[in-house]
Amino acid sequence: QEDVFKKVISHAKEYGFIFPSSEIYDGLSAVYDYGQNGAELKNNLKQYWWKAMVQLNENIVGLDSAILMHPTIWKASGHVDAFNDPLIDNKDSKKRFRADVLVEDFCAKLEDKAQKEIDKAAKRFGDAFDKNEFETTNTRVVEYRARQKTILERLAKSLTEENLADVKSLIEELEIADPDTGSKNWTDVRQFNLMFGTKLGASADSATDLYLRPETAQGIFVNFANVQKTSRHKLPFGIAQIGKAFRNEIVARQFIFRMREFEQMEMQYFVPPGTELEFYEAWKEKRMNWHLALGLGEENYKFHDHEKLAHYANAAADIEFKFPFGFKELEGIHSRTDFDLSAHEKHSGRKLQYFDPERNENYVPYVVETSIGLDRLFLAVFSTSLKEEVLEDGTERTVLSLPPALAPVKAAILPLMKKDGMPELAEKIFNDLKYDFNIIMEDKDSIGKRYRRQDAIGTPFCITIDQDSVQDFTVTIRDRDTMKQERVPMENLRKIIDEKVSF
Ligand code: GAP
Repeated sequence: QEDVFKKVISHAKEYGFIFPSSEIYDGLSAVYDYGQNGAELKNNLKQYWWKAMVQLNENIVGLDSAILMHPTIWKASGHVDAFNDPLIDNKDSKKRFRADVLVEDFCAKLEDKAQKEIDKAAKRFGDAFDKNEFETTNTRVVEYRARQKTILERLAKSLTEENLADVKSLIEELEIADPDTGSKNWTDVRQFNLMFGTKLGASADSATDLYLRPETAQGIFVNFANVQKTSRHKLPFGIAQIGKAFRNEIVARQFIFRMREFEQMEMQYFVPPGTELEFYEAWKEKRMNWHLALGLGEENYKFHDHEKLAHYANAAADIEFKFPFGFKELEGIHSRTDFDLSAHEKHSGRKLQYFDPERNENYVPYVVETSIGLDRLFLAVFSTSLKEEVLEDGTERTVLSLPPALAPVKAAILPLMKKDGMPELAEKIFNDLKYDFNIIMEDKDSIGKRYRRQDAIGTPFCITIDQDSVQDFTVTIRDRDTMKQERVPMENLRKIIDEKVSF
């Protein structure tokens, strides 16, 4: 699994998808830049989401709010007081960790042990089934899982401000060590706020201390009344937004899975009080179907319903995806009640209510939120699409089998030789298609090498122009997945490409 993940990271860099930020200065931890192909893939993902949310839903509109906002917003939302991670230092290695992640990693090891028992047993029982042995294995697996459950329950209880000392006790009791040095010499656990601070203007006044937004959602809440009045939508209606968010994450070791600067795609759906759980269930299903429509495989997704709810939520679930390092959160769906709008009413002194003509009353709407990390979606799509294939002739190829609609480049135009009118014809085709698709032209290297390079960035079609093309205006078009080549009239190209790459 680790090897697969390494391959994903190096492929992303080698083919212009993702570079470490500020690389010539040795990088900046947990910050990344998207290269020429990454920027295209990311844009296509945004479009795929925006279309599904805004364009296809008559009652959802878009928004693009500022990253910098009035500092009281973060007081009202609870982020100043409660957007913390529990932090612990190892006294010997001087390394800093998230206390809860240390415990969770320990539990993941118990889960690995359980899985190994199961795998071992499955192998043995293939030869001869032994009832006693089966029961012993089963007991051991049940014990691992029970231990894991107790630990995680205790961790959840310990994570409040008053109980932090218990997280340290837990780490000591479980004899958890610094994974690099093996040292078990820990400091106390303390809370660390994840928001990045910055200053407005040149004044030294504390009112000008700002934060970079840690979520895009608050920009939607504070604009609720503006959008509702100007769009004249009745409830239920939604506001969708794509934008950057910033969190000073303590653990930042999973490539673009956990970044300090990342992008969110969030939608807040405003509904009458009392109807929220119905809409919550409906959005859970809709969002899962949206993911499944990408075709990455149903087995890669699962719901994780939250048992322990944040103070503002009355229901919450994650859509988890099978990343190269296991099932992890990709998207959150939360029923946030009227917590945010009410808090902003209180702190701003402005009414954030809706007059419901059917109920003939004013109220603060309830909110169901869907929130997905664009970079995590990128990683999900990219890592699942990256494949090593052994071909019929025994050779290998690396192919990025992205859903064609998401591919950075839709077609590559490849003149076989740089003479006899082939480059000119290639240019004509390029100019013909460039208004509809992102296409490129390549005339360097052998045709085989050019095909491989396009496979590696996920280009669905390669169009080759040869001597005959100049005579009869037909070209060969090669399909990335089947590698089959077909001779077609030039004038059919637009239709062939369009059929495959439209959303
Ligand atoms: N408005 C709700 C909210 O922000 P969240 O669960 O904290 O909820 C939502 O974040 C989504 O944002 C997550 O499911 C994840 O996909 C993404 N996300 C959160 N922190 C991230 C980080 N440090 N790096 C990349 N993506 C992140």
